[in-house]
Amino acid sequence: MKLDRVIAKHRSLGRGEAHRLIAAGRVLVDGQIITGNQHEVDRFTRVELDAVTVQQPERALYLMMHKPAGVVSATVDAEHRTVLDLIDDPDKQTLHIAGRLDRWSTGLLLLTNDGRWSKLLMDAASKVPKIYVVETAEMISPDAVAAFAHGFHFATENVTTLPAELVLLSACHAQVTLYEGRHHQIKRMFGRVGNLVTALHRESIGKLRLPEELKPGMWRALTIEEWQTV
Ligand code: URA
Repeated sequence: MKLDRVIAKHRSLGRGEAHRLIAAGRVLVDGQIITGNQHEVDRFTRVELDAVTVQQPERALYLMMHKPAGVVSATVDAEHRTVLDLIDDPDKQTLHIAGRLDRWSTGLLLLTNDGRWSKLLMDAASKVPKIYVVETAEMISPDAVAAFAHGFHFATENVTTLPAELVLLSACHAQVTLYEGRHHQIKRMFGRVGNLVTALHRESIGKLRLPEELKPGMWRALTIEEWQTV
């Protein structure tokens, strides 16, 4: 939202009056005088007018978790334990998941209450690489490498998957890099080359790697550097 709207709404003023207060240097945004009325603020920003708080900032949360198998990537579920059940934070009900993993998949999961951040991260246009390690029931054919790079048409959504990188690590073991996140994408891609995924683990999202010390079920807050540069 623009700064002038926040001020106008709070004081029940016209936008012109809000512009005058802002231009007079009476408005602080996160402790700094801002004189541009089109300055963008969000719900995580503190806004003050004449030293009175106009908007109290909400606490922004950026978390990483090592998702264990068997827990669902959801915030509520009638039947199963959810990843939220593993988190101990007073504001956990504000969280959503930035890129789900299937119930039996494991690895790096990001949770946040900042919708702009998660949207940017998950938007295929941002081309953030997500790296997975996969085990399969059958030997992975070397032809699968070209098929993954070429993309598959998914009739249900009428989309063709973006080029994905498949690196064979051993007969039934591979690394897959995706630049998008469609429902059951890796399982469906392996299905299309006549194979079955038996284990799936996400190692990284962008520059964020699952740290060795974060064991299954554990979570921690991202540092500012981590969430700003992912
Ligand atoms: N692709 C899948 O099939 N499952 C996941 O959990 C993630 C990617």
